[in-house]
Amino acid sequence: MRAIGIKHFGDTPALMECPVPEPAGGQVQVAIDAAATNPLDAAIASGSLAALGEYRFPLTLGMDGAGTVTAVGDGVTQFQVGDRVFGQFWSQPLRFGTFAECCVVQAAPAFGALATIPDDLPSHMAAALPTSGMTAVGAIDHLQVPEGGTLLVIGATGGVGTFAVQVAAAAGIRVVATASARHAEQVRELGAAEIVVRGAEPLDRALRGLAPEGFDAVLDVVGDRSATRLAAGAVRDGGALLSTAFGVDEHLLTDQRLRTENYRLDRKPERLAEISGLVTAGTVRPVIGARLPLEAAPRALAGRFEVTDLRGKTVLQV
Ligand SMILES: NC(=O)c1ccc[n+]([C@@H]2O[C@H](COP(=O)([O-])OP(=O)(O)OC[C@H]3O[C@@H](n4cnc5c(N)ncnc54)[C@H](OP(=O)(O)O)[C@@H]3O)[C@@H](O)[C@H]2O)c1
Repeated sequence: MRAIGIKHFGDTPALMECPVPEPAGGQVQVAIDAAATNPLDAAIASGSLAALGEYRFPLTLGMDGAGTVTAVGDGVTQFQVGDRVFGQFWSQPLRFGTFAECCVVQAAPAFGALATIPDDLPSHMAAALPTSGMTAVGAIDHLQVPEGGTLLVIGATGGVGTFAVQVAAAAGIRVVATASARHAEQVRELGAAEIVVRGAEPLDRALRGLAPEGFDAVLDVVGDRSATRLAAGAVRDGGALLSTAFGVDEHLLTDQRLRTENYRLDRKPERLAEISGLVTAGTVRPVIGARLPLEAAPRALAGRFEVTDLRGKTVLQV
């Protein structure tokens, strides 16, 4: 079968021919229809997350995906052959990812989450949800912004940002989002009430004008620590600042005035159910900036492809 992977940490991901993996006890085998990229994939390939878990090589990359169960191992009761499933396919040890025609994963993945695809949700949309969607609902949950409160989203045009703007707006939160000028209108359509155009004026000055009483919370998905520090100054006393990209530095972590956190995705099965529920209800939609063939995964991971609309998610059609 065709798969995109690496033989060693640090390799440039490439197309490989691999044997079809068979499910062991507790695992399911899934024929992948569609997969989606995340910054996590390049981080895994580089070896920078080597300490996080166990890896086996050759390693097929890809965490997010959707497909059909083609075989189940002993002891699997949650799924059966023919079920359409999606999720974050993060087994332990990690060996078989979603950038492949077929993969195997624990039915209850050690680090990820797997669920049945809601009826009528196409595979390419299901594949676009897991990591970014779970992170957006988890981060908004941790921030605890009251209905009618004001949230700043730093980096609203990518995977997590496009979900976070929609999830927060649907919860009755007034969303202010940073974006480049050419994407301002599209981010507004996702539900942002105000856009701070990147580079148009100093961030602290722009923020003061948009929330004179102070923001209730900030969600950072970019990781620019100077920007998060400026944003922290615009949060009211007792407000919250959370980063999914390690944008909260030591100084901010010890700031007694605010609740600050470098967030790591938690309670994944629950989060997967939450985000798919919002999509099924028509409250949130995955923004898919590019749909590429599996062979284009190395280009996608390197960011070498055209996006005409918002970046959102990049989906690989298998
Ligand atoms: N902690 C966790 O559990 C967890 C889970 C998921 C993701 N993450 C992390 O969260 C971050 C976001 O993930 P993602 O999937 O949303 O990534 P993404 O799709 O690549 O989006 C990144 C966003 O950052 C913006 N951006 C990039 N460089 C920028 C800069 N210099 N100034 C301002 N904005 C900039 C992008 O805007 P443009 O498109 O306009 O360039 C885009 O909106 C990544 O660091 C990822 O590793 C963490």
